[in-house]
Amino acid sequence: MHQNNTKIAFFYNNPLWLALFIQLGVFIAIWLSLPYVAYWIIPPYNPLSWLLVQVVLVVAVSYALKMPYWWLWIQALLPIGLFVGLSQQLIPVVWFGVIALFLMLVFSNVWSERVPLYLSNRITHRALGQLVRERNIKIAVDLGSGLGGVVRALAKQGVDATGVEFSPILAVLSAALCRWFGLGRVLRGDMWQQDLSHYDLVYVFLSPVPMSALWQKTQREMKTGSVFVSNSFAVPDHEPDDVWELADGRQTLLFIYVMK
Ligand SMILES: C[S@@+](CC[C@H](N)C(=O)[O-])C[C@H]1O[C@@H](n2cnc3c(N)ncnc32)[C@H](O)[C@@H]1O
Repeated sequence: MHQNNTKIAFFYNNPLWLALFIQLGVFIAIWLSLPYVAYWIIPPYNPLSWLLVQVVLVVAVSYALKMPYWWLWIQALLPIGLFVGLSQQLIPVVWFGVIALFLMLVFSNVWSERVPLYLSNRITHRALGQLVRERNIKIAVDLGSGLGGVVRALAKQGVDATGVEFSPILAVLSAALCRWFGLGRVLRGDMWQQDLSHYDLVYVFLSPVPMSALWQKTQREMKTGSVFVSNSFAVPDHEPDDVWELADGRQTLLFIYVMK
């Protein structure tokens, strides 16, 4: 029973696997049902009908399993894209491998840590600039630095800024951008292995999933008076010292914690 719950939890915490599982399950179910369908509808069947049934069933099952609405679109578009790509020979099969490899390198830890790639906007960069001036911050790190935009924005303010990025492709690209502009640096690495003890500011823009564990890490390592800022995701069960609501389209919230 416990094992079953764990398996169910795994699928719910990993929507990509749930989505693929549903696609494959529906595909196999249609395939297995073909001999029975043949009693009612004489073969051969138009592949478009199979595609239509796949899309309808996949969306229905995903909806029944309470996947978020935007996943229903992905579920519908996935088989259509695959069908069009393969049937029109728009996508030679080898490209699936290349695309899968690229996605793996860019989103290498989305599945384990649930942190996708989205970037802090310019208004956030400006707010961080204000924060470092107000608090006289000299040395900062962006844990999970994506394309390094925050690192360069902080470096522009005269801060000794470092980014730590897990995804190899993003790390190489953003390190090159930092070198090109002569602003800050990006290291390829895992934020969990990064020592936070000498930073005045630790900035993150991640997801709700790692926040509790990250808070424990800040408590163990960050020095008194230094600042931990989380874009959009608060630390559960801990009151921030300040919350800045930014005047951008998504009303970004910066949760600011001063280390005691
Ligand atoms: C939402 S993006 C934020 C990018 C950047 N900080 C910004 O605000 O523009 C999160 C980034 O964290 C990276 N990431 C996730 N887990 C990580 C880890 N354990 N170590 C280093 N980087 C990680 C992801 O690859 C992704 O690029």
